[in-house]
Amino acid sequence: MLILCNWKLNGKKNILKKFFVELNNLCIKFKIKSNISISPPIIYLSKLYEILKDIKSKIILTSQNVDVHIQGAFTGETSVYMLKEFNVKYVIVGHSERRIHHFESDEIVSSKFDIVKKNGLIPILCIGEHFQESFDKSKIFIKNQIDSIFIKIGKKAFRNSIIAYEPVWAIGSGISADPNYVNDIHFLIKSYICKKDNFFKNNNIVVQYGGSISKNNVYNFISKKYIDGILIGGASLEIKTLFPIIKIIEKFSK
Ligand code: 13P
Repeated sequence: MLILCNWKLNGKKNILKKFFVELNNLCIKFKIKSNISISPPIIYLSKLYEILKDIKSKIILTSQNVDVHIQGAFTGETSVYMLKEFNVKYVIVGHSERRIHHFESDEIVSSKFDIVKKNGLIPILCIGEHFQESFDKSKIFIKNQIDSIFIKIGKKAFRNSIIAYEPVWAIGSGISADPNYVNDIHFLIKSYICKKDNFFKNNNIVVQYGGSISKNNVYNFISKKYIDGILIGGASLEIKTLFPIIKIIEKFSK
């Protein structure tokens, strides 16, 4: 199972080595087989690349963002080429925090998704509604977010990509979504994409859940048929909150 950790705008240069060495040692000690990926602020990727190389760790690096351009006069941005130099495997695109605070439209998100794929990295497309009212309303909202990717890239868009379903109201609120509801939404996402692209057999596109995951609720999610893995925010910032989650996932992995 894939365990994605999004540090958002958190972390400090002088905690990186201790955190990664400790996490790596625990993974070895407990023979963890799940794939663990950490997404630190971009400025820390180069240091983490060196640390992971030194300790020969299997922990994977994810980027929280990427620019829609490869290079040029785009002050403050990071190119997918640069991410590749530091062995980054996944790139988060369309996180609700970027859609809300940085005004990223579906058009920008699909351009980022496209550039990540074209350059051989794996996009993690975050989707999710910001209201809590109804399944039917959410269904339309989510299908529209998926359609914007299909419109830009075509029907093969989701091959070699990951989707993270994160209902916006569940992010950082301490109130996770109902696992049965999430399972139904994941089924909807999978069947919608499979219907458009028959490359996917048996709904085998990876869909992760994110939103207030903790050691107390993670089993309720990963035990569901259509929830393939998780995307952890706040609880991934400290080993003492992250590693218990990893252990639960490891014990009950499908
Ligand atoms: P929290 O786990 O803090 O709710 O964050 C989820 C998230 O947004 C991960 O991308």
